[in-house]
Amino acid sequence: MYEKGYRTVTYSRTEATHLLRYVDINGQNRLFGGKLLEWIDEIAGIAAMRHASMNVATVSIEHLEFKKGAFLNDTIVMIAYVTHVGRTSIEVRVDTWIEDPKTGMRTPINRAFLTEVCIDENGKPAPVPYGLKIETFEEQAKWEGAEERIEARRKRQREGF
Ligand SMILES: CC(C)(COP(=O)(O)OP(=O)(O)OC[C@H]1O[C@@H](n2cnc3c(N)ncnc32)[C@H](O)[C@@H]1OP(=O)(O)O)[C@@H](O)C(=O)NCCC(=O)NCCS
Repeated sequence: MYEKGYRTVTYSRTEATHLLRYVDINGQNRLFGGKLLEWIDEIAGIAAMRHASMNVATVSIEHLEFKKGAFLNDTIVMIAYVTHVGRTSIEVRVDTWIEDPKTGMRTPINRAFLTEVCIDENGKPAPVPYGLKIETFEEQAKWEGAEERIEARRKRQREGF
């Protein structure tokens, strides 16, 4: 059972897997970064919509780090979940790994934080209908990390970036 008015981090947790095919690969035989971005944007939107039970739009993708390349036939695993809820915005973290099919070992290749905004029927920002129920110290640390990112963004905006 979930507390009324709040949803847990687990509620929005979304996992996706992809087997890399020729259509996903660039001229250097690596996963095309734009394809990974598409998958990141999609899974983050799904996680945010699960949290809010309403439509969302991506307003920003931050801290996108390509740590390692991925290649043809690699198994890609992606996990997304909500880390922070504002008035109309929801931050989602997306981690991407390559999974070794023999051992199940996962090597991180990307981490991204996206901000999704709840959108009403007129395409305007709308309040997020559910708060985020923080249940662990780790979730609390991630919430605080999100607050630091929000503050850093506001500072950049004040400084005209
Ligand atoms: C999403 C959209 C409607 C928001 O409109 P807006 O005028 O920026 O709205 P606001 O300034 O009220 O900001 C809404 C929320 O987004 C947050 N936000 C705005 N700009 C942001 C940015 N660059 N990074 C992170 N968060 C941002 C605000 O802090 C606010 O959050 P809060 O209510 O939780 O405090 C508008 O930016 C838009 O239509 N963008 C295009 C979305 C899109 O088409 N995405 C690609 C396809 S999904």
